[in-house]
Amino acid sequence: MHILVTGGAGYIGTHTCIALIEAGHSVVVLDNFSNSHPEALKRVEQICQRPVPFYEGDAGDADTLKYIFSQHHIDGVIHFAGSKAVGESVEKPMLYYRNNVTASQTLIETMNDAGVHTLVFSSSATVYGDPQSVPIFEDFPLGPTNPYGRSKLMVEQIIQDFCQASGAFSGIILRYFNPVGAHDSGKIGEDPNGIPNNLMPFIAQVAVGKRETLSVFGSDYPTADGTGVRDYIHVCDLADGHVKALETLHGQPGSHIFNLGTGNGISVLEMVNAYASASEQPVPYQLVARRPGDVACCYANSDHAKKVLGWEAKHDLHSMVSSSWHWQSGNPDGYQSGK
Ligand code: NAD
Ligand code: UD1
Repeated sequence: MHILVTGGAGYIGTHTCIALIEAGHSVVVLDNFSNSHPEALKRVEQICQRPVPFYEGDAGDADTLKYIFSQHHIDGVIHFAGSKAVGESVEKPMLYYRNNVTASQTLIETMNDAGVHTLVFSSSATVYGDPQSVPIFEDFPLGPTNPYGRSKLMVEQIIQDFCQASGAFSGIILRYFNPVGAHDSGKIGEDPNGIPNNLMPFIAQVAVGKRETLSVFGSDYPTADGTGVRDYIHVCDLADGHVKALETLHGQPGSHIFNLGTGNGISVLEMVNAYASASEQPVPYQLVARRPGDVACCYANSDHAKKVLGWEAKHDLHSMVSSSWHWQSGNPDGYQSGK
């Protein structure tokens, strides 16, 4: 298949481009580099040893999309492009509704006009809000607690409404849990701008000596060690989930929703210890107050993806932390390193 990957220069996008190419598909990338670096795509080309056709532009710009659809035969779109920082979404909600919701609507309409009827959309476990229990199943109540999460849920609803009305459109909604780790090559990985919001890139920067101490947000949760528990999933497993979703559901009309997680809950302190052990570096931390809006425990039931897509996560915690360390230690300044 020929796949347009919006946001293909980003963290999950680069890994997914590689997984698609390795599975025999071809990709065209559209990215505006608002949260990524052109070097990331060069590294994808090095790893795959072939050029990756690329357009610099906005995934919400109809003219750009029409041009791409006129130049390439596209069988489906994976839509990673979007903004993803929860705190920023509270400060700048309109940015999130424009870049995530409005852009997705334009993309879907332009795809449909061009006769491209399969979309894979990057959703998030954040749509569940504070879950009633764990593990989380796809039919659990939804209740995102911030504009980022609401923007994801709105797009899910747009996709479902459009699939229902169109009768021909296939909308595959993937709810990611917590993607971490990096490609085995150590050439690509997570490269956040500024101070990382998320746990794994923060730990990685402490281990490599860029930051002094990790703040552990909350040690009084009702979990085994008192720290927050999440379902961390290796980014290469996540990438593989996209390939399986496309190969299984391409052209099958209707909306299809899947959790992509491992089903295992890992606490903050378990993650810190695993990282320190794999990197053989100290990861100093201090226990501080809870981060507002955080939930105690969040992990997936991914049986639906296993049953329908034949997909399940294969990498364990050691593989997640050691691959992250391979990337971080070889590229202490991310894509700015060693060019
Ligand atoms: P990322 O920021 O690394 O990648 C997103 C890419 O999209 C970047 O390359 C950015 O430059 C590009 N982009 C943003 N807005 C654009 C626009 N309007 N037009 C063109 N390009 C644009 O993020 P990621 O971690 O790879 O996440 C990919 C998707 O998965 C996002 O939609 C995110 O919300 C979702 N998601 C991520 C996580 C996570 O923890 N990383 C979890 C759940 C869901
Ligand atoms: C966060 C987002 C969520 C998004 C997800 C995916 C918030 C409130 N939620 O979820 O919407 O979908 O990322 O990337 O931002 N932690 C620390 N110290 C840190 C950073 C994190 O102790 O410096 C803890 C958190 O309290 C949490 C765990 O580590 O218990 C994971 O945090 P994080 O990586 O930010 O992911 P989520 O909170 O699951």
